[in-house]
Amino acid sequence: MGKWTCLMVNEILKKFPKSKDYLLEILHELQNNDPKQYISAENIRAIAQHLNICQSQVYGVVGYYSMLSAKPRGKNLIRVCNSPVCKMIGSEHTINHLTKKLKVQLGGTTTDGKFTVEECECLGNCSQAPSLMVNSKLYGNLTSESLDDLLKEF
Ligand code: FES
Repeated sequence: MGKWTCLMVNEILKKFPKSKDYLLEILHELQNNDPKQYISAENIRAIAQHLNICQSQVYGVVGYYSMLSAKPRGKNLIRVCNSPVCKMIGSEHTINHLTKKLKVQLGGTTTDGKFTVEECECLGNCSQAPSLMVNSKLYGNLTSESLDDLLKEF
């Protein structure tokens, strides 16, 4: 682990009491502060040590929540809603268009590290289905044209 990363992780961990009730909050904060938007194996070890729990418990929580990842992601995380309303209206087209355009598999990251494309559960934007989220910004009523514009924006 690099010196800077190690310092950042320690700074974040220091803010939380040593109770596993804070596990989810810690994971979100660490992931949000990581340039690759994931929880590294070193960070999982550090969290487990801080909370005095097994690393497998931390991995279990990371694996359970789709927002969290133990795999490095690109600079921009595209999360395509694949819940029923979006699915009915065209999330498959959205996924196909993005993966083809970015030359990436679903769940993968572009070779330049700029984008990761993942699918996710309902984003609460069903009235504008199909929807997706790039980082923390929501987009809806997606078409091939609006997807191309969106990619240009980033
Ligand atoms: S089903 Fe896609 S935003 Fe709700």
